[in-house]
Amino acid sequence: MKKVLIVGSGGREYAIGYFLKDEAEVFYAPGNGATEDFATNIDIKDFEELANWAKENNIDLTIVGPEDPLVKGIVDVFKSKGLTIFGPSKKAAKLEGSKVYMKNFLKKYNIPTAKYIETSNKKEAYEFIDKMDKLPIVIKADGLCAGKGVIIAESKEEAKEVVDNMLSGKMFGEAGKRVIIEEFLDGYELSMFAICDGKDFVLLPAAQDHKRLLDGDKGPNTGGMGAYAPTPLATPEIYEKVKEKIIKPTLEGMQKENAPYEGVLFLGLMIVDNEPYVLEYNVRFGDPECEELMPLIDSSLYDMFYYGAKGELDKIDVKIKPMTAVGVVCASKNYPYGKSEAAEIKIDDLRECNGYIAYAGVSKKDNKLYATGGRVLVCVGFGENVKKAREEAYKIVDKVHFDGKKYRKDIAYQALKDE
Ligand code: AMP
Ligand code: GLY
Repeated sequence: MKKVLIVGSGGREYAIGYFLKDEAEVFYAPGNGATEDFATNIDIKDFEELANWAKENNIDLTIVGPEDPLVKGIVDVFKSKGLTIFGPSKKAAKLEGSKVYMKNFLKKYNIPTAKYIETSNKKEAYEFIDKMDKLPIVIKADGLCAGKGVIIAESKEEAKEVVDNMLSGKMFGEAGKRVIIEEFLDGYELSMFAICDGKDFVLLPAAQDHKRLLDGDKGPNTGGMGAYAPTPLATPEIYEKVKEKIIKPTLEGMQKENAPYEGVLFLGLMIVDNEPYVLEYNVRFGDPECEELMPLIDSSLYDMFYYGAKGELDKIDVKIKPMTAVGVVCASKNYPYGKSEAAEIKIDDLRECNGYIAYAGVSKKDNKLYATGGRVLVCVGFGENVKKAREEAYKIVDKVHFDGKKYRKDIAYQALKDE
């Protein structure tokens, strides 16, 4: 059997391993309390050491889940030792690591995005804000801020205050000392994921995430409280436009920049008047979007990642199941504000449910599973359409018990509005 190492510990990584486990022996670095059920967790953080371990243990393929190790260059370290690893190089990962790099790249290659300036100069920032003719105004810190570096200012005064706080380092430290100021795009958001091998790509079904904590898209931003795929909001015309106007020029551009893009290209898109605009690139799968996408793959998942990593995607045909998956995140009591006390997780019999649970912030002690993270697990339901998949997802949610469990009750509402 093939051997796969997955780097990461969240629900995203759980889902990748869970759907690979029939094709490969799975190892995690570090994994979580539930990945132990079907895989082996290893505790090595240093990239060099981990690559040596992968070599000694004849790992055929390594898949990297989160952006942090990618931005820090894990792929370069593994490749330098002759290992096969799926993910972008440190240079290519800058598409997510630096918003300034990303915006300048979009502009250089004529890829649709919101109008902006990038600056580290307060005077320049103020002048641009004064000239903007529409509100709100979007301000973004350059560096990684764990998904919190974007502020939407409702007035010019507020925009200036945010700029001050970022440039002075008060708001996001070093990450905010360079900022993007951009126009607000008013449309609906989609997430699209392309498996890329440097030249070719496979575009997966479009997903929609729910970033806010509370129903009706209220409350603070989170890593994502639920998602579903495919979304009927992405029409065939939109898929075509995304391929032609965004993914192809991105791959060509990255080749020209001597940073061919390999790995998952995550497009955060805003659709305005039927035209897609890039809000952001991420260099990894979304979490919880990955938890819904993995079960939709109807061909070998191992091959998709392996041939992606080898630059040979043209050799395979990735098939997609005619099915919808809806994922509802169950989070712990104090998420996203702070830590919660560990709570034991009990799950009722799931045999009547069509779907699965992707475990994220969980640990195991004395053979019992505890909620120890912010986003604890994702209940993913399957069905022939959004409505049915959503019913299954909430059926699973009802079977999950732990103190402080909270979740949104309206996941996928945008797809059901018109039904
Ligand atoms: P980002 O990290 O750039 O994706 O931004 C986080 C969130 O802020 C996005 O998911 C959008 O909801 C919102 N956002 C970012 N940029 C814009 C923009 N130019 N117009 C409208 N909303 C935006
Ligand atoms: N769910 C959005 C993200 O992973 O960034």
